[in-house]
Amino acid sequence: MAKVTVQDFIKKKSRGEKIVMVTAYDYPTAKIVDEAGVDGILVGDSVAMVVLGLDSTTRIGMATILHHLRAVARARPRALLVADMPFGSYEISAEEALRNAVKLIRAGAEAVKLEGGVEIFNIVEKLVKAGIPVMGHIGLNPQRALVLGGYKLMGKKVEQALKIIEDAKALEEAGAFAIVIEHTVAEVAAEVTKRLKIPTICIGSGPHCDGQILVLHDIVGLSEQVPYFAKVYADLRTAVRKAVEAFVNDVRSGRFPEEGRYRSAGEKFAEELRALLRERYGDTRTR
Ligand code: KIV
Repeated sequence: MAKVTVQDFIKKKSRGEKIVMVTAYDYPTAKIVDEAGVDGILVGDSVAMVVLGLDSTTRIGMATILHHLRAVARARPRALLVADMPFGSYEISAEEALRNAVKLIRAGAEAVKLEGGVEIFNIVEKLVKAGIPVMGHIGLNPQRALVLGGYKLMGKKVEQALKIIEDAKALEEAGAFAIVIEHTVAEVAAEVTKRLKIPTICIGSGPHCDGQILVLHDIVGLSEQVPYFAKVYADLRTAVRKAVEAFVNDVRSGRFPEEGRYRSAGEKFAEELRALLRERYGDTRTR
């Protein structure tokens, strides 16, 4: 099957086909989600909380995203590979944003994602003009949780809803090829989706979007806490715990490693080795 490009995302919207994305942060899971047929893989800054045990996505920088992006890129996915620009990597100046976006592209990203709307118009425009596809991210911006006072549902008040719609329009005008809408009331995501030519990909913002994205660890039941809007399709936490418990029991009871899981050099070799050891060290035994 052909490589997914940013143009395919836009075509999918015009054909009314849903776009599906998930996060991945390493080589094996990138392979698996790609085989499952997703359209896009996001190396999200959620890696900070989901994989690294940190309390916020703001705790990581370029080095961490680059590290995980390189692992995912080695899977050579068919899906479009998008990397998050971490907190502090694009806000200072458009020039610095471009320098950092170039690093992500060189590490294998095919697009970058930035949080914000009207206020990052110049930055998005600069990246797009330089040839870097940009995915916007509006509604709840977790990188701004400190200012927002938490991970709140956005767009409940008309003023806030209008701001989100303005943000979406600004991002489209700046040249973004798609926009993630996170944790807004469904009506706002529906209005944004109707008013844009570029696709909206939602997380926790209802069904009236051009696509959906979820965090992989939530879908497969590896997250400690799953947000109400994510659906858990497998219980890998229990599966992994049970597998490791079985290994622990097998080792302690002598059932592992069983015959076939190791190689022997034969009795003649063992006898020769013992003779040599006796000659060299005497007949000392530790047990
Ligand atoms: O980092 C991430 O996982 C994200 C998704 C929530 C869209 O930005």
